[in-house]
Amino acid sequence: MTNFQGLPPVLTIDGPSGSGKGTIVKHVAQRLGWHMLDSGALYRLVAYGSQQNHLSFEDENAIAEYAAQLDVEFKLVELESGIETGQNGQDLQIILEGKVVGSELRTETTGNAASIVAAMPKVREALLQRQRDFRQNPGLVADGRDMGTTVFPDAEAKIFLTASAEERAQRRYKQLKEKGISGNLAALLQDIRRDINERDERDSQRSASPLKPAEDAILIDTSGLSIEQVVEQVMAVCEKSFDVK
Ligand code: DC
Repeated sequence: MTNFQGLPPVLTIDGPSGSGKGTIVKHVAQRLGWHMLDSGALYRLVAYGSQQNHLSFEDENAIAEYAAQLDVEFKLVELESGIETGQNGQDLQIILEGKVVGSELRTETTGNAASIVAAMPKVREALLQRQRDFRQNPGLVADGRDMGTTVFPDAEAKIFLTASAEERAQRRYKQLKEKGISGNLAALLQDIRRDINERDERDSQRSASPLKPAEDAILIDTSGLSIEQVVEQVMAVCEKSFDVK
């Protein structure tokens, strides 16, 4: 399947941290049998790798050059049977400069650092073509903040997922509690609320590709909805926009 320009089809899913995008994108990509771009992982990799290589966050040129030459490989690996993956027994392994990176990328510290490098216009520019290269047959589901506005403005279908800041804070708090975090839980919830507000502010106020819905995006508020309900709404959009069932 290609569009009128002969390019593979793209569905963009943008939205703030904690809107449930990552999970929804995985389910939808699996249902469609399409590729997936986790653009946030690229910003996280640039932030994490820059820190590992002792680059200063004051030096935008150095970070942009690092981003342009980012030595990363996304590899689908078979998982040992018995592990619950929801991805047909396969998992995506990220290899940065020859080393597998995993949970280091998902920490709050790396998330905050990613938000700082993501505000640098030269870093965004350096990652642009790399993101567009993910557009391959049979199609791509692209997850981020500016997929529908900047990276794939010609996408056939665009979705913007939202959830109230409080709902996103509660989801994050629940995830951490499930991981067995102990200590002052009330203070933890306050810290999460503050982090979410700070990151929303930085992501939506920056001059380079701020977080905002594309004019032709369909808004879905996920507050109070289950994963399945959101996936069904997204699939309904896909059925209208693409030749899929
Ligand atoms: O989605 P995430 O939490 O992994 O994203 C990490 C950071 O990168 C977040 O602060 C927003 C930023 N980001 C961005 O600016 N543009 C994207 N397309 C994806 C993520």
